[in-house]
Amino acid sequence: MINAHTCQLALNVRSISTSLKWYESLGFSFSGSYGPSTGDIVAATLERPSVTLNIAWLVGRDSLAQLELIEFVDPRPKPQPEWSPNREGYGAISIVAFDFAGQLERFQREGADPLLFGSAGDQSMWIKDPDGIWVEILESEPFPARIVASGCERLSSIRAVTLTVRNLEKTKQFWVDTLGFEVADEIVRPFKPLPPALTGGASFGETILASGPVLVRLLEPPSDAFMERPADYKLGDELGAFNIALLIEDKNRYLAYADQLLEGGFRGATPAPLALNDTGLWYGYDRQGTSLEICYVEPDMVEQCGWKR
Ligand SMILES: [Fe+2]
Repeated sequence: MINAHTCQLALNVRSISTSLKWYESLGFSFSGSYGPSTGDIVAATLERPSVTLNIAWLVGRDSLAQLELIEFVDPRPKPQPEWSPNREGYGAISIVAFDFAGQLERFQREGADPLLFGSAGDQSMWIKDPDGIWVEILESEPFPARIVASGCERLSSIRAVTLTVRNLEKTKQFWVDTLGFEVADEIVRPFKPLPPALTGGASFGETILASGPVLVRLLEPPSDAFMERPADYKLGDELGAFNIALLIEDKNRYLAYADQLLEGGFRGATPAPLALNDTGLWYGYDRQGTSLEICYVEPDMVEQCGWKR
């Protein structure tokens, strides 16, 4: 069984410059950009006739983990419906703040009104980013002993993203048996429940999956509340958390991992993984239609692709 490392959380944003400013203030550091990206390969990867997009990366405290901001220039994203944890797909993101008290004070000074939970030392706050993405900002680390990237000691960490699914057990099975994640419920300090303002007080099934620094918080809403993606949904249609990427730093292992995924029922957006000389990527979907990217980067290309180690 090959496994890979959660190296990236991608967000579909309306404006890279607006989001960069917001996430830099939250304790992340700009680490590179790419674009405009267009042409057959990117269109095939996104299963669209044509696409033009810009990309920027930010790093946090953890080695080999980045936020990827994707700005669709053409087509433009549809207006964002209000996010709810009942909505299928990736949703809210969790950040461990480098300076929680300073961030809280800044938001209050700016007139933002974060939802606050917990008591001193173990607080969290929920706030929307400029695109309406809910961000849970944590004071204390739920997942200790991460490798800190050199020079990034004073940055915040990208720690988790929620993923709402219809069937938690089926999703868990694929992510553990085929993608190589582990169920981390016992090594991760429990996250606080989602804010009642978002759940309406309903209780959700929840499991934490880990395969690297960015955790996946699987959520299963009550079945009568589950909101399916629109039938004509295409990746990138909506602003918000877009997908996660899994990294392998070796081309042969990456290709073998792709085979492992295909055997388990992964559907590639392109028939085969893309592999250039020193980088490669493959977009696709798990058995329930959740988008995933797998990628490989030769160790000496890591910084050029916007990571720090
Ligand atoms: Fe990506």
